[in-house]
Amino acid sequence: MKAENVVLSGDGKSVVIIDQTKLPNKTVFVELRTSEDFYDAIHELKVRGAPAIGICAGMGLYVIANSFGETDEKVFLSKMHDVSVYINSSRPTAVNLKHALDRVEKAATDCRGRGVAEMLSAMHNESVAIQEEDIAMCKSISEYGLTLVKDGYGILTHCNAGPLATSCYGTGLGTLLLGKERGYTFHAYTDETRPLLQGARLTAYELDKAGIDVTLICDNMASIVMKQGKVNACFVGCDRVAANGDTANKIGTSGVAVLAKYYGVPFYVFCPSSTIDMDCKTGADIVIEERDPDEIKTKFYAEPMAPADVRCYNPAFDVTDAELITAIVTERGICRYPYTESLAELFKDIR
Ligand code: MRU
Repeated sequence: MKAENVVLSGDGKSVVIIDQTKLPNKTVFVELRTSEDFYDAIHELKVRGAPAIGICAGMGLYVIANSFGETDEKVFLSKMHDVSVYINSSRPTAVNLKHALDRVEKAATDCRGRGVAEMLSAMHNESVAIQEEDIAMCKSISEYGLTLVKDGYGILTHCNAGPLATSCYGTGLGTLLLGKERGYTFHAYTDETRPLLQGARLTAYELDKAGIDVTLICDNMASIVMKQGKVNACFVGCDRVAANGDTANKIGTSGVAVLAKYYGVPFYVFCPSSTIDMDCKTGADIVIEERDPDEIKTKFYAEPMAPADVRCYNPAFDVTDAELITAIVTERGICRYPYTESLAELFKDIR
């Protein structure tokens, strides 16, 4: 199985991504070569979704370091570290970004004394390994997801946690896609996910393309479909899980979780273990990205839909309290409340 959304070129000089801002109308491939290319692609959401950002950044660090033409190890490592810090500043919330950059940087520093060529080769291998691991993790997460559903389930989704946001299958959408391959029939209710419409533009597109029955709803319709009994479970991805299970995901996710609790619908969070940040004690420690007000006022509209000078608050993520989450589904197993214990157990022999 191969990922199509983020591809490292054979010569190691660029990374080619699908520009997610152009979907669903056009499939446009963009080639990234410089630090600025990678920073902008991540900041502008051309590549988005926590795991995909990490994969792209890790490969980016290798591609940029490969272009230095530097032979002095010390200078090479110092220049590479500066690039890593710069790319990491493109978006603050998803932990996968820093995690991947640190892994690729460590691959090089571990080769100290063996020359820059060996450092580059280690960086190449590590960045490719991050993507390969993600493919395997998404498959495993989706297998666990299938143990939580029955054929015919109505599943509400928020934002996009499919193959575009990861590498294959996805996290939050993986169960639906793998289930489809295994003959399950699901009915997806997909929140459009204001303001950037990742649900409408990307999730509806991915599910429809896979032949899964999908109904697009506005975010404020989640309550009515739950009340009408159409939703058996809510499936979301996430950008960072704190050690106590508080979970940052796309703005609006915590509202879905509150509704789900009220209507007695299970609310599941899906993520690779690389999205769990055990150094972050609670959701209060998670930095929430704030974005340009024009995403609310003008983006996607033929003309502005709000007074030009009205004040806007545009947080890109919110934190769902651990108590509202029925389970956190990872490639290593399913964790349940209290997460302080179940997540610690998950990491006991890997960190
Ligand atoms: O701002 P985005 O589109 O990058 O936000 C993405 C999400 O919130 C996803 O749900 C999350 O990154 C998980 S993707 C597997």
